This record gives sequence, structure tokens and C-alpha cells, in this order.
Amino acid sequence: MSLLNEPLRFDATTLQAVHRPAKVTLVGAGPGDPDLLTVKAARALQSASLVLYDHLVGPEVLELVPASADRVYVGKEAGHHSMPQDAIIDLMLRLARSGRPVLRLKGGDPYIFGRGGEEAQGLAAAGVPFVVVPGISAAQGAAAAAGMPLTHRDHAESLVYATGHLRGEGAGRTVDLDWSMLARPRQTVVIYMGVGTLPIISAQLQAHGLAGDTPAALIERATLPEQRNVVGTLTTLPALARQHDVHSPALIMIGTVVALHRELGAVAYRVQDAQTQAARDG
Ligand SMILES: C[S@@+](CC[C@H](N)C(=O)[O-])C[C@H]1O[C@@H](n2cnc3c(N)ncnc32)[C@H](O)[C@@H]1O
Repeated sequence: MSLLNEPLRFDATTLQAVHRPAKVTLVGAGPGDPDLLTVKAARALQSASLVLYDHLVGPEVLELVPASADRVYVGKEAGHHSMPQDAIIDLMLRLARSGRPVLRLKGGDPYIFGRGGEEAQGLAAAGVPFVVVPGISAAQGAAAAAGMPLTHRDHAESLVYATGHLRGEGAGRTVDLDWSMLARPRQTVVIYMGVGTLPIISAQLQAHGLAGDTPAALIERATLPEQRNVVGTLTTLPALARQHDVHSPALIMIGTVVALHRELGAVAYRVQDAQTQAARDG
């Protein structure tokens, strides 16, 4: 019998690797506090054999991954990409096609400013099966931990998440947002990645009609033991941010719901209200 007529012999694993890539699970790690992982995310982590994780995923979350699993850091920090996005997608595709199930772990929710959409598109286009496990986004974590409800019948009936990062090239780089929409009354605006551009955001919102005395806050490292709340107004927040040396990761929250922190301020976290502290210090 010639080789051509011989029946092909593959074991089940080989067949799966050749014909069907392994699954990629895009998992939201939540805002920082490991107790804010979903049950589904925790289960996925506990059964992972290979994890690709981002900059904002904390060590306590990674501790859930079995010691035998491979952990690969593919994180990105502001202005410093340790691995370009295309390379991350390419790595996931290669691993999945080689038959290795991948757990892709991202801070917060994968589909909120996490480029999870682009990663899912890359997987879908390549025919690699994937599932998405949502996570608690930084805005929800910060709202709960700081006592600032994102919506409230007396304050805000709409809620907008926006990104404050700079777009464009060279001297033309700016924050390109729909300022008129963001400046609407009875709305809460949460800005991710906006610490560095806070002066532009503050000026543009006021130029588009939002009152300078609108309550506004920066929530730094929300839900983590070192969380800080810096509370002021749209006008005062840029100076307060400098004064208190606020750094990423931090969120900007704008709207009258921010003032509710006086009534609802969390006690479960070591919250430091820098403005109150400054007032106490005289
Ligand atoms: C690339 S985005 C990722 C957002 C994430 N996918 C989410 O749903 O929260 C990173 C930005 O999220 C915000 N962020 C993430 N974790 C945070 C935290 N614990 N406290 C405050 N802001 C946080 C910061 O604005 C940070 O620059």
C-alpha cells in the first residue's frame, strides 16, 4: 500500500491543534481590589494555564492563577508600550493556533477603554474562538469606594465615560472630545486617562458652558488600600491635582453627584479626602 493510501493517524489533541485553535478568554480583572473580580473571572483564573496580563492587573489577582501556569506581561503604561497592540493580538493568535488556551487578563472591563474590542476583532477575523468575561470598570469601583453614585434622580440622569488621552501628532496633539455634549447639565462625566490633560478638560468644559463651580474629583487607585480622593470643582481641580501630586491610574469625575461623597463617603476603604484634609490642616 502506498503512503498516499494509508489512513492518516492523528490523536485527538493533534487534530484539535491542526483544525481548531484553542479558545481565548478575555477576562476583566476589575478595578484593583481582588474581591471585586466576578466569580466567573476568578474561576477562569484558577483554571488558567497561560495568562497574558496588563499593567493595571494587581499581584493579588494574579495570585489566583495556578503556580504551574505561564504568566506573560504584555502591559502598557502611559507613553510606554511594552508590546505593541498588533504584537499582542499576533501572540494570542499564535498561541491559540498552537492549541494553547489563552487567558487574556485586562484591568477593569475588557470592553471599556481596554482595547478589548480590537483584540476580539483580531480573534474573530482569524476564526479563533473567544469569550469575554466582563469586569467591574474603574468608574464603578471608584463611584462605590468614594461615595459618588454615577447616576441619581436628583442629580444626573445620564452618564458619559470618555477618555482624556491626547490624540494627533506633534504640536497638534490635543484632547479631541465632543465638549458640548460633555458640558450638558444633569449628567455625570467620568474621564479615564485624563490626569495629564486635566487642565485642557477643565478649560474646555467651562468654555462650553459647564459652571466652574461644578463639583469635580480625582479618584486615584480606586478600590485599593491607598485610594485617594481629591475633591474640588471644575475650576479648582487642576491646581489640586498638582498640589496633591495625583498620578495615574486615576479617574476624573465631574457632576453634582460628586458632592454626595460628604454624605456617602466610603468607610470600607482608607479614603483620604485631600480637600477636607487641606481644610483641616488650615
Ligand atoms: C487603559 S484604561 C483601562 C480601563 C479599564 N478597562 C476599566 O474598565 O476600568 C486605564 C485607565 O483606567 C483608569 N483606571 C483603571 N484602574 C483604576 C483605578 N483603580 N483607579 C482609578 N482609575 C483607574 C485610569 O484612568 C487609567 O488611566
